[in-house]
Amino acid sequence: MTQDPNAEAQIQPTELGANAAETGERQLNNETSDAYGSHEVGVDNLDFASVAEMGHTASELDPDAPAVLTVDNLKMYFPVKSSGVVRRTIGHVQAVDGISFVVPKGGSLGLVGESGCGKSTTGRLITRLYKPTGGSMMFEGQDLAKLSNREMKPLRRDVQMIFQDPYTSLNPRHTVGAIVGAPLEVHKIVPKNQVLKRVQELLEVVGLNPEHYNRYPNEFSGGQRQRIGIARALTLNPKVLVADEPVSALDVSIQAQVVNLLQDIQTDFDVAFLFIAHDLAIVRHFCPEIAVMYLGKIVELGDRETIYGRPHHPYTQALLSAVPDVKQAAIGGRRERIRLEGDVPSPINPPSGCRFRTRCQFAQEICAKVEPPLLQIGPRHKVACHFAGELGAHPATPVTTALLGVDDQGSPVSGATPTNTQLTIPGYEKTWYDLTSKQTTGR
Ligand SMILES: Nc1ncnc2c1ncn2[C@@H]1O[C@H](COP(=O)(O)OP(=O)(O)O)[C@@H](O)[C@H]1O
Ligand code: SF4
Ligand SMILES: [Mg+2]
Repeated sequence: MTQDPNAEAQIQPTELGANAAETGERQLNNETSDAYGSHEVGVDNLDFASVAEMGHTASELDPDAPAVLTVDNLKMYFPVKSSGVVRRTIGHVQAVDGISFVVPKGGSLGLVGESGCGKSTTGRLITRLYKPTGGSMMFEGQDLAKLSNREMKPLRRDVQMIFQDPYTSLNPRHTVGAIVGAPLEVHKIVPKNQVLKRVQELLEVVGLNPEHYNRYPNEFSGGQRQRIGIARALTLNPKVLVADEPVSALDVSIQAQVVNLLQDIQTDFDVAFLFIAHDLAIVRHFCPEIAVMYLGKIVELGDRETIYGRPHHPYTQALLSAVPDVKQAAIGGRRERIRLEGDVPSPINPPSGCRFRTRCQFAQEICAKVEPPLLQIGPRHKVACHFAGELGAHPATPVTTALLGVDDQGSPVSGATPTNTQLTIPGYEKTWYDLTSKQTTGR
């Protein structure tokens, strides 16, 4: 079980607690309010996507939505200290290393990647649980990265977080009413005598029985606890919700219900989501736009159709090959699972050039020498790979040489003028680099 340093409490459910939770589930299931379809029915032998299809239709992209949050070149380096009496900084964990993206108003951006690639750190930077090492996070005209804790206080209402683990993120000694009501009191949102009423409304919104405000977290099942966490995050009417693997700890059948609930909330509360997940199956339904992270960097960014239908980065292709129900372009009529060899390297001393090169089957000399820029290659598609191409059609020579002023081995070409590819611009330009013609083109 992951420990969440920023969650409200750190507990491991005791055997007694776990049993109590199960008993609670049996007791409470029948009584659960059905405000948002909390029909916790048994749907065995189905994968997440099929269960999700039983609920809502997939969220759609609004290409014209304005940005609610613009993240530019965001960095978080954690110092590594030596042991001993005098603890010197001997290195840095480059957990997030220069990422840029836009979260559209009322929309949802998926952030996907293996464990340890910097997703939670990104979420904690946006909610300012951490102060970034560098970069900016523009929200309603203010740079969240630069504000002091005092200046951040009024803005904390607007950017809230749903934590991964519903067992450790709720204080076991507080009633549900106290947990959901606390932010209302701290921020003095409603008069004291109306807190209970508001808490009950919120419990109903998340599909729980409003009469259960007096119960303790261990009386609820995992799915119900996550609903409590969602109610708490909604208390202050946020404009952005960071959902950090909100369903990873839940059963598949419950996962789809919680995702459906989040979809309802998104529409009803007009809240934008940064939806973090470690696999591509879950975000497909919820996120019309997806960013794929590897070792602190975004390696591919695009709309749903592009990421699932025509991914150009070898890492995205490998991640996608593990999703059973995705019809990925097959090589020679066969769709094979691409094995990722080896472990994710340490973010303390990441590989030179392309960070994915130690595990990439297409890596060549240039990949070790030159970092591939996150290049826009379509109207809503960016990729960071010297050999970007569809699965089975990666080019034989690097596509980036002319732009970067290097030869095929990555050595600088004398007299060449590298194009300023403006590696970190968040969002999309109206023009992009066409991989076939190797020309800048546009709509
Ligand atoms: N507070 C911290 N101090 C030092 N290193 C950290 C801290 N939090 C995360 N890390 C490291 O940063 C990297 C990214 O972690 P994290 O953002 O939790 O990844 P993810 O959520 O994608 O699994 C990991 O190598 C992790 O060990
Ligand atoms: S730049 Fe090279 S190592 Fe990196 S993903 Fe592309 S081919 Fe693989
Ligand atoms: Mg995480």
